[in-house]
Amino acid sequence: MTLALGLRAAIAALLLGLSAQSLAQSAPSAPPKQKPYTPSVGQAGKDVIWVPSPDQVVDRMLRMAQTTSRDTVVDLGSGDGKIVIAAAQRFGARAIGVEFNPDMVALSRANLRKAGVADRVEVVQGDFFAVDFSRATVLTLYLLPDLNIKLRPKILSLAPGTRVVSHSFDMQDWEPDELSLLDGKRAYFWIVPARVDGRWTLELMGDSPARIDIGFEQDFQKLRGYASLGVVLAGLRDARLRGTQIRFAYVDNEGLERAFTGRVNGARMEGEYRSGQGVKHRWRAVKR
Ligand SMILES: C[S@@+](CC[C@H](N)C(=O)[O-])C[C@H]1O[C@@H](n2cnc3c(N)ncnc32)[C@H](O)[C@@H]1O
Repeated sequence: MTLALGLRAAIAALLLGLSAQSLAQSAPSAPPKQKPYTPSVGQAGKDVIWVPSPDQVVDRMLRMAQTTSRDTVVDLGSGDGKIVIAAAQRFGARAIGVEFNPDMVALSRANLRKAGVADRVEVVQGDFFAVDFSRATVLTLYLLPDLNIKLRPKILSLAPGTRVVSHSFDMQDWEPDELSLLDGKRAYFWIVPARVDGRWTLELMGDSPARIDIGFEQDFQKLRGYASLGVVLAGLRDARLRGTQIRFAYVDNEGLERAFTGRVNGARMEGEYRSGQGVKHRWRAVKR
């Protein structure tokens, strides 16, 4: 009995010893610690290298656009995510980054989690030429002159009133509405203009109602045009678009200036005009 017990204890001890040894042998060694991805300024990107916008420039870009919590900010080529993170953190906006480099996408996703804005910011992995960014109410760019021009038709087809800010680079003959300079760095600002090119019927309300043909020729936000006043085609003065807001004036056949301000909504526009005596009345116009 004592012998049997002693034998069992010895076998158990042997088994325990063996299994501890084999466990030690088969236990997976701890995975080698992965080095966090560290991008280097100037590294290659699909169409443009990565260089982060300085903090001050990011702040000015978002301030020029008068970004608020009602905005959706889209940054094309979002790099480490600093613009989209600032838009959410400092301005309360929703924001979407579009970045082609998967490592930068992973890094920016980690950055936005660290910044505590993951509920308001997403980063989409993709090519900014292929991604639909029509949800933007504010669009930010830090790309290259030729990329801005390639993107320009898509930008001009965004909802009128969308604000666009570009660090360093302009849009050639689409002149900026504003330019800010910071320590030698440039931030250009545009508002996507409504499309009003063509002929309209203008209806004047008030004490002397009338219908007048008007025509606009549009160069981005700049307007030229005429009002048809009987035999006279009266040139428009002070004609301008700011997103969906329009203004223009003409001098009528009595020599009085009629000045119009209003809002464009697709093929309609309406607003207020001032007759020669300064009295305000309503007007509206329909595209012909
Ligand atoms: C000059 S950096 C700007 C980064 C960031 N917007 C900022 O201002 O700090 C341009 C970024 O665009 C990315 N990029 C280049 N070509 C791209 C493409 N076709 N689609 C999406 N991202 C692209 C690059 O990887 C890089 O991160």
